[in-house]
Amino acid sequence: MRHPSNVPVRLTDYRPADFLIDSVALDFRLDRTATRVVATLTLRRNPKGVPGAALVLDGDELTLVSLKLDGRALGPQEYEATPDRLTLSAVPDGPFTLEIETRVDPTANTQLSGLYRSGSAYCTQCEAEGFRRITYFLDRPDVLSVYTTRIEADEREAPVLLANGNPVEAGKIAGGSRHYAVWRDPFPKPSYLFALVGGDLGVVRDSFTTMSGREVALAIYVEHGKEARAEYAMDALKRSMRWDEEKFGREYDLDVFNIVAVSDFNMGAMENKGLNVFNDKYVLASPETATDGDYAGIEAVIAHEYFHNWTGNRITCRDWFQLCLKEGLTVFRDHEFSADMRSRPVQRISEVRGLRLVQFPEDAGPLAHPVRPSVYHEINNFYTSTVYEKGSELVRMLRTLIGAETFRRGMDIYFERFDGTAATVEDFLSCFAEASGRDLSQFALWYSQAGTPVLSSEGAYDPDAKTFTLTLKQETRPTPGQTDKKPVVIPVALALFSENGQKLDLASRDARPEELSRGLVELTGAERRLTFENVPSRPIVSLLRGFSAPVRLEPAPASADLERQLAFDDDPFNRWQAAQSLALRAIFARVDAARQGAAAPEAPGYVAALRTLLVGADADPAFAAQALSLPSVIDLAREAGSDVDPDVHHAARMGLRAEIGGALRADAEAAYARFADKGPYRPDAAGAGRRALRAVALDLVAAGDPQKGGALAQELFRNAGNMTDRLSALTTLALLGGDAREAAFESFYKQFADDPLVLDKWFSLQATIPEPATTQRVIKLMSHPDFSLTNPNRLRALIGAFANANLTCFHALDGSGYDLLTRVVLDVDPRNPQVAARLLSSLRAWRTLEARRRALVEAKLRDIVAREGLSADTRDIATRALA
Ligand code: PHE
Ligand code: ZN
Repeated sequence: MRHPSNVPVRLTDYRPADFLIDSVALDFRLDRTATRVVATLTLRRNPKGVPGAALVLDGDELTLVSLKLDGRALGPQEYEATPDRLTLSAVPDGPFTLEIETRVDPTANTQLSGLYRSGSAYCTQCEAEGFRRITYFLDRPDVLSVYTTRIEADEREAPVLLANGNPVEAGKIAGGSRHYAVWRDPFPKPSYLFALVGGDLGVVRDSFTTMSGREVALAIYVEHGKEARAEYAMDALKRSMRWDEEKFGREYDLDVFNIVAVSDFNMGAMENKGLNVFNDKYVLASPETATDGDYAGIEAVIAHEYFHNWTGNRITCRDWFQLCLKEGLTVFRDHEFSADMRSRPVQRISEVRGLRLVQFPEDAGPLAHPVRPSVYHEINNFYTSTVYEKGSELVRMLRTLIGAETFRRGMDIYFERFDGTAATVEDFLSCFAEASGRDLSQFALWYSQAGTPVLSSEGAYDPDAKTFTLTLKQETRPTPGQTDKKPVVIPVALALFSENGQKLDLASRDARPEELSRGLVELTGAERRLTFENVPSRPIVSLLRGFSAPVRLEPAPASADLERQLAFDDDPFNRWQAAQSLALRAIFARVDAARQGAAAPEAPGYVAALRTLLVGADADPAFAAQALSLPSVIDLAREAGSDVDPDVHHAARMGLRAEIGGALRADAEAAYARFADKGPYRPDAAGAGRRALRAVALDLVAAGDPQKGGALAQELFRNAGNMTDRLSALTTLALLGGDAREAAFESFYKQFADDPLVLDKWFSLQATIPEPATTQRVIKLMSHPDFSLTNPNRLRALIGAFANANLTCFHALDGSGYDLLTRVVLDVDPRNPQVAARLLSSLRAWRTLEARRRALVEAKLRDIVAREGLSADTRDIATRALA
């Protein structure tokens, strides 16, 4: 393991590398415990580097076997080799070759970074700094080289041998059972995009003809017997390839595109050039084993990794501070793809839900950092929701500000100008400044300033003058290390409606004509006042339409206005937002009443609005399902912002749920019957919407009449024709409790015991039951034969779900939830620091807790920080969490 370093890496310290590596020839002899790697590097001095500098290559846990310079074996006095560094103080000034032989043990590699084994296969993961665990290298994204990879292995153990680029040659090695394959990737790339795979795998094949008529051979490699489950991923891949041609003019550039699914993977997937490696969760699906959500996730991740071929691979990042350059942009692209494939409004709602669930708390807590951080101790900890999801929001905002056409022209300039380079956020923005003729320097603040701006609005109607004055203000609270916040540019999409739902023309002398015609005003200073004319009566204001900027909008409009918005706003996002705001208000009214010992207030207006949604759900079931869903306890904790007691929030939420269920019982039952499964399962958006609505209806029935809901759920659980329905039945039963629940979990286990991805659901659902006994259940499940601390998916399914999605148990006042999490984190840390650190970041919002829980968490964090031998990853999270 790399030792924790106290020396932070700073953006301002960036210097070009002293050497360039033009080409890399890698020769692997795969062996379970002693793989030999011979790397032949062609090096020369970088004209932009320090003249005469020593050659210092990165390593991590490496064993050097031998070293040759220009073909001559070097003696030990001619270099200095440690597991994490290889230094040659005297190298030629002209180009030279270095041949480095290292030995690595893939079986002992439990970090899943570098060369490791997943099941019986060999695979690699090199982003961000895993290549240095394979050979000594200038392991930084601005060193681009052309790679040739030769892999040799036992043919029985690894009949499939894959690497980046195109296949060049393959054959048997005389005298034995070994064979080899050679791959060549003609596109210069940084080391983090290197990959190889060796194993005995099944495959599905297809092909794609690019827009210029080139034929690309596509293959997805999976565990034998699971080939049929890769068909949807293959379909998603072809749709992604077509979409990138149509929407961005981007064509695929190699003869082959390979995807390999593995079951042990730290993240979702990896965009290695021509050889994507995936967590099998994002490849494998069948109606019996995957939910609609899983299908949508596969489609999104397949697209995401494919889109990286241009945004990430052809144009990569100069340094890791620029991570959002590839990630934020690529998330934006996969979001747009999903919006085109499915329902754009529903997609937008789910994007914003995701952003608020993780990114907002991150940005409001001790782990807050800018989309482009300026300092890090451990880069692995910056693959965050802020870099990815907020990063995507910034690209979306840019498009909103300059318009879709100009945005596309800017992208064209970007691809044209920076192809083959390692670029920066400044490079990216310069293309849009050029395309739009706008000065984007204020916009650039979004990349360097952490924290979610609060946008507040105040309206005043003057009935005599028939004017409406809207005052918009912005403020960003201080974040760790950043106390001084400047106003950012906020595109505020808005519309005014009359009380009967008529959209009003915007007329104002305080706005530019194009702001009025587009319904998009820009707030650039701390405050802006706009007086609208010819407003016949007090208007309903629809603000931040489509969530036009990643800000918190305060305060929510009056309930009567929200009810009207829900009824007639023509922006679906804001209709959904109105429902959410009404729900939040109703729940917080219950929280206040409970705290004062008063009777729970009812919310008849909200309930009536929900009835209308439910009865009219047929028009757009997916949207109705979203609008009918109550905010989660996590949403409530975030909105409360301080003094959070999850028990109180949970109780209030359940109270409102019961009120709604009681009032809408008949309508919910009718909807449940009306949306019954028709015909064979298809994972498309329309079918998914109907199933989502039906799940919501079932939940409402169970809320209003537990007995009836239980009976329906049991019946659905038994007869479900697909995993989506089966899991929604099981979710309802899990909440209802009793023998029926235990019997259902047992039968589910029996049915799917051989299916790891389905078992993950079984573990997760149990971990999220919101009742005190769950913590003991989770502890018991940790000794279940199918539990594993070493498989990241399984660990996240049980412990991640418990810590992130079961707030009442995780934050139990006796500290049992925190005990459980920290025990697991410390257990996992020596084996897999990345995953341990990520689990620990479930404490991202701990400072918003009420005092007793806060004290418990603080003690735990202090205890962790005091440990010796902690990984850099976990130490970094624990230390920053205490900030
Ligand atoms: N670059 C990957 C993606 O977002 C994520 C990843 C990061 C995977 C680090 C593995 C390791 O597409
Ligand atoms: Zn990515």
